[in-house]
Amino acid sequence: MIEGKKVRIRALEKTDIDEIMKWINDPEVMENLLMRYPVSRYQEEKWIEKTLDDSNVRNKVFAIETKDGVYLGGIGLHRIDWENRNAEVGIVIGKKEHWNKGYGTDAMITILDFAFNQMNLHRVYLRVFDFNVRGIKSYEKCGFKKEGTLSDDRYAHGKYHDTIIMGILKDEFKKITNDQ
Ligand SMILES: CC(C)(COP(=O)(O)OP(=O)(O)OC[C@H]1O[C@@H](n2cnc3c(N)ncnc32)[C@H](O)[C@@H]1OP(=O)(O)O)[C@@H](O)C(=O)NCCC(=O)NCCS
Repeated sequence: MIEGKKVRIRALEKTDIDEIMKWINDPEVMENLLMRYPVSRYQEEKWIEKTLDDSNVRNKVFAIETKDGVYLGGIGLHRIDWENRNAEVGIVIGKKEHWNKGYGTDAMITILDFAFNQMNLHRVYLRVFDFNVRGIKSYEKCGFKKEGTLSDDRYAHGKYHDTIIMGILKDEFKKITNDQ
């Protein structure tokens, strides 16, 4: 278990599939994620199987739950580059009624602390679509800075959108957490 202030990050379980299937095909959730097509239970089961395989050393995916044990969503470090010590973080709070309550920001700060101070990563970055204002606001609160823009990278709702790359270094995170 990785304890945050409002949430707990724990191992992903095969049994989480029931909760995942409740939100994974919600268009308002999906439009912010890299996936585009509806996902079947079979596909999601295969993804969990692959994710939990011990040989998958470049991806560490976890579940987020409240302190009372209510499943909220998932968070993961992907494309872990053990030589250059960086990784891409991805997050989803699945059910919309749990949005805007500080869970995502707390989960992100918790995984950053784990990434920098337990895994000894040096840089964590993410990709976010320009229309995801909630996500961008949350990442800024965690200390992420905009590193660059991939112009017209994502086609959605009949037009192209930019993908923004945001990142944070271990020293920057340390400074923010020391200042708080
Ligand atoms: C993005 C996500 C992880 C953020 O988690 P969350 O728990 O909803 O976010 P938080 O409550 O911690 O923070 C959101 C902040 O954005 C603000 N916000 C929300 N909508 C906003 C808007 N339209 N304009 C400006 N700010 C907005 C909130 O007020 C809050 O700031 P505050 O705490 O200062 O009031 C979550 O909403 C989510 O999973 N969304 C769907 C999937 C997704 O977008 N994944 C990330 C892909 S990059």
